[in-house]
Amino acid sequence: MSFSKISIKRFRCFEELSLDLSPGVNFFYGANGSGKTSILESIFIFSSGKSFKSSNISSLINFKFDNFNLKAFDSERGYIAEIKKDINKPISVQLNNSKITTSKLIREFPCSPIHNNTFSFADASPDFRRKLLDRSIFIADDGFSSSWFSFYRSLKQRNSLLKKGATTQISAWNDAFIKEGNAISALRANFFKLTLLEFNNFLDLLKPSNVFNFFNDINISFFAGWDADSNLQETLEKNFQIDTNRKTTTKGPHKADIKFLINNIDARQLLSRGEQKFFSILWSCSQHEVLKKHYDLRPTLIIDDIKSELDDRVFQLFIDLLKYNENQVIFSCIDDHFSSKIEPEFNDFKKFHVEQLG
Ligand SMILES: Nc1ncnc2c1ncn2[C@@H]1O[C@H](COP(=O)(O)OP(=O)(O)O)[C@@H](O)[C@H]1O
Ligand SMILES: [Mg+2]
Repeated sequence: MSFSKISIKRFRCFEELSLDLSPGVNFFYGANGSGKTSILESIFIFSSGKSFKSSNISSLINFKFDNFNLKAFDSERGYIAEIKKDINKPISVQLNNSKITTSKLIREFPCSPIHNNTFSFADASPDFRRKLLDRSIFIADDGFSSSWFSFYRSLKQRNSLLKKGATTQISAWNDAFIKEGNAISALRANFFKLTLLEFNNFLDLLKPSNVFNFFNDINISFFAGWDADSNLQETLEKNFQIDTNRKTTTKGPHKADIKFLINNIDARQLLSRGEQKFFSILWSCSQHEVLKKHYDLRPTLIIDDIKSELDDRVFQLFIDLLKYNENQVIFSCIDDHFSSKIEPEFNDFKKFHVEQLG
């Protein structure tokens, strides 16, 4: 799938804007505050019903108005998606004029977003990395969401009983916790394994180790959220006393993480911002490859503000990386210096000067 056209009304700094997009590479440039992130964010909403950063969707409504309206067209499939948000009402999502839930939307318009928060993937909290992984599995696997919701419901119940000290009732929730926890954990481990495969494939193809030494020494592993020498049931039994004392479930799939070690030291303690940024892009693109190759999906790749903190050599790596992506790409950068470098590399390249759009 790709977005052939988007129309934005009363959204962030834009009152009205309509854009015809290329199925290939779309490049938005403009000064700080010109509206690049706003445009990319409007596209991301079609995949998630959510903002990049703000949990308050009302803050996306242009200050002068009390509602926004976004439309996206996919001319290939003849699809139209419409998202409306009125300041006093919940978000409304329609696909081809019928209401749908945002969780269905993510499968109809899958996107892989890479933006300011994603750029410090290694430095972020485990929650953040887990969410990013889970988001891709939500898109990839139909069964994931039901197990995910059941697991988190059992965790919530368990924790609320631990809080009350009602320890005798806890075992009633253990079965669901273990069954659904194992199910989501197996899907995470598998998706992680495939991502690592694609990541290593990128290392072979792009040879970023010529620019960044750390790629030779990085060790990436999936942590399920509990010690590998016990299964989930044993873990709950072993930790019962600790959980009772701390009034919360200390170990389990809700603590899952992806660990990055360089010479056995946590990568976040070693990497510079530019290194982290390139690493984060490569990891996110690896997840994107998994969706493409292993699940036959065609997500749109969205990358906001690519150039800051990346020098020319790293930028060349990024262009090489894009060549392996046959899907639609929408990305932004503060200036236009290098589009002459990118343009000849892609057949379907379209450039937008954001200052001149609004
Ligand atoms: N709800 C809103 N209504 C009006 N303007 C907004 C709103 N939210 C953000 N802005 C403004 O939109 C402008 C563009 O922001 P942004 O898209 O982040 O620009 P860029 O990514 O190009 O730096 C900024 O000046 C910002 O203050
Ligand atoms: Mg921005």
